Amino acid sequence: MSEVKRDVRNAILFECAWEVANKVGGIYTVIKTKVPVTVSEYGDRYCLIGPLSYKTAPMEVEACEPTDPHLAATLDAMRAAGVKSLYGRWLIEGAPHVLLFDTGSQYSRLDEWKGDLWNLAGIPTPPQDHETNETVIFGYIVAWFLGDYVARQLDTAVVAHFHEWQAGLAIPLCRKRHIDITTVFTTHATLLGRYLCAGSVDFYNNLQYFDVDHEAGKRGIYHRYCIERSAAHCADVFTTVSHITAYESEHLLKRKPDGVLPNGLNVIKFQAMHEFQNLHSTAKAKINEFIRGHFYGHYDFDLDNTLYMFTAGRYEYRNKGVDMFIESLARLNFRLQKSGSKTTVVAFIIMPAATQSYTIDALKGQAVTKQLRDTVTEIQNRIGARLFEHAIRSNGEHGTLPTPDDLLSDEDKVLLKRRIFALKRNALPPVTTHNMVDDANDPILNQIRRVQLFNSSSDRVKIVFHPDFLNSNNPILGLDYEEFVRGCHLGVFPSYYEPWGYTPAECTVMGIPSITTNLSGFGCFMQDLIERPQDEGCYIIDRRAQSVEDSVSQLTDYMFSFVSKTRRQRINQRNRVERLSPLLDWKNLGIEYSKARQLALRRAYPDAFYGAEGEEEELDFGMERMMPNSVPASPRFRMSGIATPGDIGTLTEEMQALGTSDYRGYQWPGNQEDEDEGYPFPLV
Ligand code: UDP
Ligand code: G6P
Ligand code: GLC
Repeated sequence: MSEVKRDVRNAILFECAWEVANKVGGIYTVIKTKVPVTVSEYGDRYCLIGPLSYKTAPMEVEACEPTDPHLAATLDAMRAAGVKSLYGRWLIEGAPHVLLFDTGSQYSRLDEWKGDLWNLAGIPTPPQDHETNETVIFGYIVAWFLGDYVARQLDTAVVAHFHEWQAGLAIPLCRKRHIDITTVFTTHATLLGRYLCAGSVDFYNNLQYFDVDHEAGKRGIYHRYCIERSAAHCADVFTTVSHITAYESEHLLKRKPDGVLPNGLNVIKFQAMHEFQNLHSTAKAKINEFIRGHFYGHYDFDLDNTLYMFTAGRYEYRNKGVDMFIESLARLNFRLQKSGSKTTVVAFIIMPAATQSYTIDALKGQAVTKQLRDTVTEIQNRIGARLFEHAIRSNGEHGTLPTPDDLLSDEDKVLLKRRIFALKRNALPPVTTHNMVDDANDPILNQIRRVQLFNSSSDRVKIVFHPDFLNSNNPILGLDYEEFVRGCHLGVFPSYYEPWGYTPAECTVMGIPSITTNLSGFGCFMQDLIERPQDEGCYIIDRRAQSVEDSVSQLTDYMFSFVSKTRRQRINQRNRVERLSPLLDWKNLGIEYSKARQLALRRAYPDAFYGAEGEEEELDFGMERMMPNSVPASPRFRMSGIATPGDIGTLTEEMQALGTSDYRGYQWPGNQEDEDEGYPFPLV
């Protein structure tokens, strides 16, 4: 392809995503947590590219001058043409270089670029879609940057890795312009998949039958779909995050992925096992504080016998399985009541929705509890002083121990009574902490109303809907998300559409048991690796082969049996879950990314991979694979040699020649006849 001989051994890597230094959802977690392993492989040859948000960038990025003269020259040239950018170090672990482009600085070119996109790729773009406008501008700026950079820097090969359609438009542009780079496109979902699932479609049984153009047109996303599809088709290597999404991509984007790159996490190992257990205890104490305030006036349950369950994520009611969660909570409530259980379950739903403010009631709850606590501290100090005075004079007028009346003055009693009166409340503790913009039509609130979980005294299951992401500066639930997860007992994520699903994975590495489904990439990944995941505190509901009713029952059963566990059993289970974390460590899973890049280099520069004798050289993944420190108690297979969890049936040229049956562990409708065609790697 290229006349120029570029060094493919020490390639330069640009990784481009809309969520670089810009938190939206799980893609931010992918990018951020993967940085340390990528930096250890590429060092200063690695640079992330994202959009420049003037609101968040100052907190995330420290500006500096590029040391690569070609990169500096490119940015200067672009600056001279009006493109504003910020180059610096992203202030996260690994401190990678990051290049953020201000899309706002190029809106004057929007129409010109849209016209070009139509002429070049036949992709139409309507005027009113802001997200698409951003995508077009960002894509054109990135393609401009890459083209200019490789025209100056002629020695080293460049791998450009793009995530998701919002960052993917540069791929067709680079291809059409014959820019001398190699590209990888990783999709974290498909647009159509997300839209179709959110409606009432039997998605998984009909995947291969959808008329994709028609469906995209019907939903007003045809132009976005075209961008996504062209990114998938024009990339040298196309990958996704799970086998379930690989199958979906093949049918909806019409290109079979070259491989699966499962999402990892940056696992922090504690020296001693009990350290993460202690973190659970201290975080739980903070949640307890919130609960005392939120339930003031109705705080008639024992916090020592209370379990915290939660679900969290972007507000996708059906896709994230919140519908199933609430229904199962209602059934759990009924079963606990019937069995005379003394245990209370508080179920949190953490999902950002449009809100106006915190409710007065929620703020008041925390305020009156704080006042009570302050008053108690004051009285406590006074009692202490009196007690001391009484004791020290025991030889004189007081020969005895003080009576309660000696210690608690009338003034103290009045003060205390006043605080206790302030705790009186007629209404039940509110289900939500915020005033919702559309309270009457909110799907979560409506279902809570339907199942009548109103936090009444007789309910064993209470609900707190916090329609915003967590933050330690919040006046109500003042914890960071991570701390909150640590303080809970069980994460519940019964997703219907979930290409990966970081939330249960994060629970696992923090040693918190979780429930997910076999329609989530993470759930399938764990099911593939572990013989009996439920014994390890990783519960997987079957949402594929059974009815919705049966899935709801299964979820209720899992939650009910979890509630029946003793404290000792919960502690043991946390230990077991935490032992699974090496399976999710980027130190192991990062290799899949290395393979994708190697494959991309081979496809773009095949000649560079043949030795003097014409023999093909061994693949070098540029990093040592670390074996897990602890292996799961019941691994279905042990990883050996070069095989890694994401490895099975992925990233080989031969993959393309096979049928569609070679996604791990799947028996999808219509694929059975392909089964005899064999697998590139042995399946277990
Ligand atoms: N998350 C967060 N704060 C919260 C709730 C969730 O930062 O209050 C993060 C969570 O840590 C996770 C991400 O949001 O990394 C959600 O990713 P996931 O893959 O589960 O879902 P997505 O939103 O990408 O579909
Ligand atoms: C951790 C702590 C223990 C504590 C326990 C509570 O394991 O190390 O000291 O008793 O958490 O567990 P629970 O499941 O009841 O919140
Ligand atoms: C997407 C998916 C989610 C996945 C995340 C990171 O947002 O919805 O399931 O975990 O990307 O890959």
